[in-house]
Amino acid sequence: MEESNSQFEQRKRDHIKIALDPRSQTEGQNGLDSIELIHEALPNLDFKEVDISTSFFLKDPVTKDSISLSSPIFISSMTAGHEQGREINEALARLSDRRQILMGVGSQRRELEDSNAAEEWNRVRRQAPKALLLGNIGIAQLIKSPIDKVQRLIESTEAIALFVHVNPLQEALQPEGTRDFRHGIEALENLVKIAGVPIVVKEVGCGFSVETLKRLENIGIYAVDVAGKGGTHWGRVEGYRSQENDLLYKVAQTFANWGISTVQSVLNAKEARVSYEIWASGGVRNGLEVAKLCALGATKVGLAKPFLEAALKGDEALEELINKLETELKIALFCTGSKNLKDLQTKRVIR
Ligand SMILES: Cc1cc2nc3c(=O)[nH]c(=O)nc-3n(C[C@H](O)[C@H](O)[C@H](O)COP(=O)(O)O)c2cc1C
Repeated sequence: MEESNSQFEQRKRDHIKIALDPRSQTEGQNGLDSIELIHEALPNLDFKEVDISTSFFLKDPVTKDSISLSSPIFISSMTAGHEQGREINEALARLSDRRQILMGVGSQRRELEDSNAAEEWNRVRRQAPKALLLGNIGIAQLIKSPIDKVQRLIESTEAIALFVHVNPLQEALQPEGTRDFRHGIEALENLVKIAGVPIVVKEVGCGFSVETLKRLENIGIYAVDVAGKGGTHWGRVEGYRSQENDLLYKVAQTFANWGISTVQSVLNAKEARVSYEIWASGGVRNGLEVAKLCALGATKVGLAKPFLEAALKGDEALEELINKLETELKIALFCTGSKNLKDLQTKRVIR
């Protein structure tokens, strides 16, 4: 069933409103409460020298270029292609530009059908020419779309990489969901060969098993963002879009806690011994949690809902949020005796 423009606008507005409702959060389930970093009472460090910067390697075989990032914290993919989302994206992109952090844009699905939707990125780029954007498309769209159309999504955003989201629970519970996931691995393999930018595969809040992570090995992807359970839960969000008496509302209650936690997903990646980078997100709400996930092996850590809430308030709130997150991360490094993120990854953590 093809969705009309007004249905699309309504769906996107619903997503933002419902994602902000506490009932859509699998709070306390990200697994991070069971992880403790070991306190170092006598760090051999001056706080001033603690360095949370990192890089994003473009993996260009010729130039081996990399982009410097002020921290491993990134803005998780949220919104695109609709009126309310525009201001949110512009504010987030200005933050990415000012602070040199990565930013995922929301699903660019609409651009596949309507090339005028790409105009949004011209406005974003006028305000944020140095923003480090990652494009976004769903696996179900990737499978059925001609590859040149997908390439245009990368061009329109001037993206340095592309997220492909895999979200079976969301699609199953979405009335207008696209539910044919067959040949996903082949579609990703094909995309990697011709995209010309790194490909990052992500969930949307249900995480990854050891087996799935292994299946993604050897196809050339750059990273998996586990986007595990513990924060915004897309089974819940889709469920609350339906009326209480509707079948999908009731079914969504059954799956309200479905998924693999963010911590378990990162541990699964270790067990699977994958060679691509592991990024972590899903219920991350402060810089100490960012530090815990880095200590477990994540190279980048994303947040969605906290950035959404701040973006709705404006630039100042976004600045406050990133300052808080980066300060917390720095203190976690200092108090574990880690001079930089590499040091942190060699620390023992308590589980
Ligand atoms: C309002 C909103 C819209 C989202 N839209 C997308 C999307 O278009 N594509 C995508 O890959 N993930 C999307 N996500 C999922 C997030 O990128 C992230 O994986 C998930 O929300 C968990 O992060 P959180 O717990 O920090 O919110 C969205 C999240 C929010 C809050």
